[in-house]
Amino acid sequence: MIFSMKKLRLAVIAGGFSGEREVSLKSGDAVERCLDPDKYEVSRYDPRDGLALLLEDREKIDLAFVLLHGKYGEDGSIQGFLDLLQIPYVGSGVLASAMALNKKVAKDIYRFAGLRVIEDVCLTVHQAFSVDQILKNLGPSTVVKPVSEGSSLGVAVCHDAESLEKGLEQAFMFDEEVLVERFVRGTEVTCCVLGNDVLSTLPLVEIVPSAEYAFFDYKAKYTPGATTEICPARVSARFTEEAQSAAKRAHRALGCRVWSRTDMMIHNGDVYLLETNTIPGMTETSLVPLAAKAAGISFPQFVDRLIHLSLGVRRTFYRTP
Ligand SMILES: Nc1ncnc2c1ncn2[C@@H]1O[C@H](COP(=O)(O)OP(=O)(O)O)[C@@H](O)[C@H]1O
Ligand SMILES: [Mg+2]
Repeated sequence: MIFSMKKLRLAVIAGGFSGEREVSLKSGDAVERCLDPDKYEVSRYDPRDGLALLLEDREKIDLAFVLLHGKYGEDGSIQGFLDLLQIPYVGSGVLASAMALNKKVAKDIYRFAGLRVIEDVCLTVHQAFSVDQILKNLGPSTVVKPVSEGSSLGVAVCHDAESLEKGLEQAFMFDEEVLVERFVRGTEVTCCVLGNDVLSTLPLVEIVPSAEYAFFDYKAKYTPGATTEICPARVSARFTEEAQSAAKRAHRALGCRVWSRTDMMIHNGDVYLLETNTIPGMTETSLVPLAAKAAGISFPQFVDRLIHLSLGVRRTFYRTP
């Protein structure tokens, strides 16, 4: 018997307005390229100029694959728009997305879930602060991060009061809330979690920035050869298990769906959570596809799996009569 299967009408959404627009376009291209034309009927949207088209096409979309990183994409805003249009999508909903993108809120949620985070101070642009007091509390070396950015935009490692002042000034150009964390040396790893109720993890990826980059900054992230990614990470079975379990607990605590990727530091014998990405990079050289490959899952297989997991998400739409 021959079955005629209806193709899934998939909308790939990439680009957007954030500082990570270029990475997002690359993620969108990589995903679009690998979709099997026998299974999917693919359309493409860029929120920068395509929101009206998305609205117009809403009845013709079975599932949206959102590949927007950072603000207005990974922060719950496009998810809210898709909810209003009643278009199901790959990944986390409004609340989990918004909480995860806000590093301060995410860290509060981790703390609440009993997970370890690096000591910090949160500042707002409207509030007076003393750099000396911050250094007294956190020690001489600090990391400054805008609360709601990604891809290390506005992140600075500061080793004295002067660089902290400069770092804060720059970070406030990205956001009106800024986190200052104690700088820790350790092994940086990231872990992809898959699932909704039953969670699984991919192998840990270890991130080793080359000596000329002080840390995993924007350039180190997107300049080929600037960082070495090692998968599986060169850490003991105990740390691997601890980091994977912490990433799952973070996914659950934030209420993530389908996939997430949690960045962590292994420092002084403990696993510290840095942040959870709800729409991790999906270029062919990104960390999540690398981890999938190490688990024997090809890029197209991985994309299929994300789509499959998203179709299993329970959603309730209320239509007004
Ligand atoms: N407290 C810290 N101590 C040392 N390095 C850090 C610290 N926090 C972040 N980093 C480095 O900065 C990078 C970016 O920080 P992260 O919190 O992951 O934000 P994002 O990736 O959203 O910019 C990390 O990948 C890590 O290399
Ligand atoms: Mg990160």
